[in-house]
Formats: sequence, structure tokens, C-alpha cells
Amino acid sequence: MTEQADKTGQQQGAKGVLHVAIVMDGNGRWAKRRRLPRHAGHRAGVKAARRTVEACVALGIRTLTLFAFSSENWGRPSAEVQQLMALFIDALNQQVPELNEKGVRLTIIGDREQLPADLVRQIEESEAMTADNDRLNLVVAVAYGGRWDIVNACKGLARQVADGELSAGDIDENRLAAQMQLAGLGDPDLFIRTGGDSRISNFLLWNLAYTELHFSASLWPDFEPKELEAVVGSFHGRERRFGKTSAQVSGDYA
Ligand code: FPP
Repeated sequence: MTEQADKTGQQQGAKGVLHVAIVMDGNGRWAKRRRLPRHAGHRAGVKAARRTVEACVALGIRTLTLFAFSSENWGRPSAEVQQLMALFIDALNQQVPELNEKGVRLTIIGDREQLPADLVRQIEESEAMTADNDRLNLVVAVAYGGRWDIVNACKGLARQVADGELSAGDIDENRLAAQMQLAGLGDPDLFIRTGGDSRISNFLLWNLAYTELHFSASLWPDFEPKELEAVVGSFHGRERRFGKTSAQVSGDYA
């Protein structure tokens, strides 16, 4: 559990999963197996995201961070990129009113300067509509890269130094963390990647330092709440030592 999570009162018990982060991989392969266009896989991916949000609410998870589009995804064929941007606008348009009723607060992280103006407008409206909700923080990473996030945070600190608000010697981990996209939301306790590959792919590099990792063979559109429940259940059996010894974290240490 992170200090930030404590400060924001996101407490669920010592072993509680407060924050789950997911790389939703496998939409293209899901579609290909059905001889459908890749876009059909992305549309099915939105449905899986919706199911997962509801499962997180039911499980009492406080924050769910979904990786929807990476800095590197701009390199995909332009037709797929355009379809994804249109899909994000549609998904926000159609789903946010209902998410709002369920008490979900939506935050989009990533480099908004790269996004089309109509998507940015939809994001701003969606965030404003849900800003007072507190049942689940749903964070969606769009045009996001972990390295970009760190560089962007460094620029924020550099500006503070240039403006005389901060001296370079005062820069520490807490000050850098406060500039990162997930500032105030706590670091993920549990990372899940679907689609069969065991890599982080430039997601939340700073925040995943002590996160428990789970790699699932399921393609994202096939990811069901029962699998999430099983992964969360297995998380409870893990001992998180944060660099300390087993005796220290179990309280046997004199
Ligand atoms: C990775 O699968 C998925 C993406 C790049 C897009 C993810 C977007 C969604 C699932 C829609 C969710 C949207 C919201 C608003 C939460 P891939 O295309 O890399 O699949 P592949 O590895 O099988 O080709």
C-alpha cells in the first residue's frame, strides 16, 4: 500500500487490493480468430473494459487504470488509429452517463496535445461530469507512455526550479511522484496484462516499482470478472516485502 493511498483514505485493510492496472492486449488476435476486422476486436475490448469496471466496483477496488492507447500505438496503420480515436469518443459518449450513475470517477492520463480536438472535448466533459464521484477511480491511459510520463514530470520540476519555487537539491522521490500522471491515486498494487506476453510495454514505469505482476493468456475481449476475482484472490496470498525481510513484514521481527 502506498503512502499516497493512505493520504487519500483509500484504505481497505492491510492486504486489500486498492489499485489494479491492466494492459488490455489481444483484441486483434481475438478478431483474427473469428475472421473479423481488427476493429471488431477493439469494440469487443470496450465491452470487456465495461465488465471489468463493474467487477472492480463489486470487489471494492478503489482505482482501476486501463492502458487504452500507448505513445507507440501512433505507429499503427492510420486507419486503425483513426478507428480507435472514434471508438474512444463513442465509448465515452455512450458509457460515461451510466458510469456516472454508478459513482465512477473518470480520469484520462496521457499526452492530450497529441489527441484530436473532438476527443479532448469529450474527455473534458466526461471528467467534469464524474468529478465528484468516489466509488471507483477509473483511469484510462490514452497517448500514454511511461517514459513520456517521467520526462513530463522532470519538466514540471525543472519549471519549478527555473521559477525559483524549488532548489535542485530539494528534488526527491516524493516531489517527482507528485508530478507524475497518477499523482494522488496511489501506485498500482496489482498489474495484469492479458494476451499472453510477459512485458510491461512502457506502462506506468515509475509507479510499478513494487507492484505485483500477473500475466494472463486470455485475450482481452475474453477476460471475464471471474478471472479478475481469481487473480485478486491469489494476490492476497502474496507477501509484499517492499525490500524488507519476511520477518519484518510479518511482525515477527524484534
Ligand atoms: C491491444 O490489442 C489493444 C489496443 C491497442 C486498444 C485497446 C483499446 C480497447 C480495449 C478499448 C477500450 C477502450 C476504453 C475506452 C477503455 P492489440 O490490438 O494489440 O491486439 P493484438 O496484440 O492481438 O494485435
